[in-house]
Amino acid sequence: MISTRERLRIAVQKSGRLSQDSLGLLRRAGLAFRESRDKLFLYGENLPVDVLLVRDDDIPGLLVEGSCELGIVGRNVLDEQRLAAQGTPFPGELRALGFGQCRLALAVPDGGPIERIEDLAGLRIATSYPQLTANWLREQAIDAEVVVLNGSVEIAPRLGKAHAICDLVSSGATLAANQLHEIATVLRSEAVLVTSPHAPAAATSALIERFCARIGAALSGDGARLLMLQAPRSALDEIRRLLPTREQPSVLGLDGRPDDIALQALCDAQLDWQHLEELKRLGAHGLLVLNVERMLA
Ligand code: PRP
Ligand code: ZN
Repeated sequence: MISTRERLRIAVQKSGRLSQDSLGLLRRAGLAFRESRDKLFLYGENLPVDVLLVRDDDIPGLLVEGSCELGIVGRNVLDEQRLAAQGTPFPGELRALGFGQCRLALAVPDGGPIERIEDLAGLRIATSYPQLTANWLREQAIDAEVVVLNGSVEIAPRLGKAHAICDLVSSGATLAANQLHEIATVLRSEAVLVTSPHAPAAATSALIERFCARIGAALSGDGARLLMLQAPRSALDEIRRLLPTREQPSVLGLDGRPDDIALQALCDAQLDWQHLEELKRLGAHGLLVLNVERMLA
């Protein structure tokens, strides 16, 4: 199917672990929205890009059927549904987005008989991710039964429905509250930007490219800091060694002050108070640290 719409549509989780950060990223990419009355649709006011607010599990399907061109979804949802799609056209992962980190993990009751993954042979594992779980079991050559549950997976062992679970873990609080602990990681997940499996029309494709460049610029600005200072020229080598820079700093001479320099450096989020104190000790003054909002290469 070829999309000929003049506007792009991106599907985003309506409410859940990725919603806030997804919309935050779109805003940092410079998109402004007007909300529809039913709150299911955000109309892009300054770029022809609209947002559909949907259940995360519906996002891959919406891309397959051509209702949208882009989506933000957890890799866990994407990979589970890709396995179920059995080689039919399926959305691809364009890039990881750096939020919503979690893992799909095998967990077992504390103090129980299961200690290693080999102990799972012949047992029952409850999960909402049957494809990923079965796939992983095959790779590990473990013969176990997968029981599908669509919620409250963590209580399955206590109810006697399963011996182990395979579920998402982020802080680990849910496992701890249910006296379970991890014995293996099945998949590392985070929010990813996905595209439709259908080739877009030329106009749409240009818009997708422009949108992705905006997202890239917003992401590369994440955590970066711009440091500006003046210092004695003699301290320059030591300052260069000290700073967690992303690229070579720019160094400028100062009118009428041959022994001093002005320096501008793009630094990582690691740049902290200790760096600044050290810089002062090296004779730097007029220190200025700015959070970087976005960067274009
Ligand atoms: C997951 C998972 C656990 C919880 C783990 O559910 O099923 O219940 O998060 O997080 P924790 O390690 O920080 O305690 P989620 O809220 O993502 O709901 P969903 O899987 O039904 O979308
Ligand atoms: Zn869900």
